[in-house]
Amino acid sequence: MGLNDFMENQEKKSIDTSKKLRIGFIGCGGIAKQHIQAYLNQPDIEIVAGCDLVPGRAKKFFEKYGLENVKTDYKSHEDFLADESLKLDAVSITTYNCQHANTAIAAMKKGLHVLLEKPFTVTLDEAVEVCKVEKETGVVFTVGFQPRMDDNMKMIKKVVDSGVLGQIYYIQTGGGRRRGIPVGPEKSTFIEKETAGIGALGDIGCYSLDMVLNAIGYPKPLTVSGYTSNFFGTDPGYCKYQQIGRPDFAQKFGVDDFAAAFIRLEGGIILDFRISWAMNINTPGDTIILGTKGGLRIPSTDCWNGSVGGPMTIYHEVCGQQTETQIPIINMKENRWDLKIRTFLDAIKENTKPPVPSSQILYNQAIIDGINKSAKLGREIEIEIPEI
Ligand SMILES: NC(=O)c1ccc[n+]([C@@H]2O[C@H](COP(=O)([O-])OP(=O)(O)OC[C@H]3O[C@@H](n4cnc5c(N)ncnc54)[C@H](O)[C@@H]3O)[C@@H](O)[C@H]2O)c1
Repeated sequence: MGLNDFMENQEKKSIDTSKKLRIGFIGCGGIAKQHIQAYLNQPDIEIVAGCDLVPGRAKKFFEKYGLENVKTDYKSHEDFLADESLKLDAVSITTYNCQHANTAIAAMKKGLHVLLEKPFTVTLDEAVEVCKVEKETGVVFTVGFQPRMDDNMKMIKKVVDSGVLGQIYYIQTGGGRRRGIPVGPEKSTFIEKETAGIGALGDIGCYSLDMVLNAIGYPKPLTVSGYTSNFFGTDPGYCKYQQIGRPDFAQKFGVDDFAAAFIRLEGGIILDFRISWAMNINTPGDTIILGTKGGLRIPSTDCWNGSVGGPMTIYHEVCGQQTETQIPIINMKENRWDLKIRTFLDAIKENTKPPVPSSQILYNQAIIDGINKSAKLGREIEIEIPEI
């Protein structure tokens, strides 16, 4: 493929509206809003029910979207999944991280297709269990990485696949926020061990890992030397806690707010990774992919959110001249959330591969899990991924 062939002509597909898929929600908190807005843009679905552990939250949530008839009188996801009268086809799982694996497993065992929010799970063991149930049940299961739907992200993979970089041997990736621990006056689900399980490493680290691993075909991770810390989250004087009047969140903080790692991947590739919710600098640097024929620089966003921060540059040689080729940012017409939901629905209706398969995200989770384990042990470890 030549450099000018990177732009793809996407054809518009017509949607068969003869069968409406019956959709349910497990978890009706912050991010469920993005899911429901995207579902409501689809002509071939019906939202029929939802549940949340907080009494009244699900009812309020659906009413906000004018969906008064959606059933919500459930105490738990078990109660919700036991209601056969709903005749559900699929669920969006938008619970906090510690409730990802158990809810996904329970839903799949009921024969439901599942769109699970990122990060996949908290531990590798949980991810393995989810993959086993997915295999047993044969439902469509996907993890919600909407950055994958972004044409600029797709471009990274196209550049790698074009061969212009040659053989990839080193990648530096990650992202950072100077002061960006996700809390609100009444919201601490991202920072408590019991709800989040993992911090910046899982929350935004999973995006940086996916950005580069997907581009290079998700090679198996072999070893990792990891580090995690929590200097900002555990400080009652942290500026955001002060702004929202919650210095007590420092005691609740039970996860990482910074992580770094050196990872060896199959094929002799080195992955140098760092991620932060809070640190005393603006960014830990751009993502760079080094190959034998060229290098690619992917500018980071200031507040890392899993998107390409500006035009990418390929550094290579043309007829012996050191040359830089800039790839302009593509302004997408489609909304990434609409595409995330649409590709999930299409996979169900067309019985095709899920948009973001668990077989890939298992490796992403294995790295996150490995970083945590290595950080605790204070040494490099081997990453062992059981057969599914
Ligand atoms: N893709 C993205 O861009 C994106 C952005 C933000 C958050 N997320 C992910 O979405 C998830 C949720 O984040 P959030 O901001 O909505 O959190 P949140 O705390 O606002 O909402 C989670 C909701 O799930 C409910 N819940 C938990 N366990 C449940 C269970 N077993 N049954 C029913 N309800 C249950 C909670 O009561 C809460 O209302 C997290 O895993 C987060 O990483 C993804």
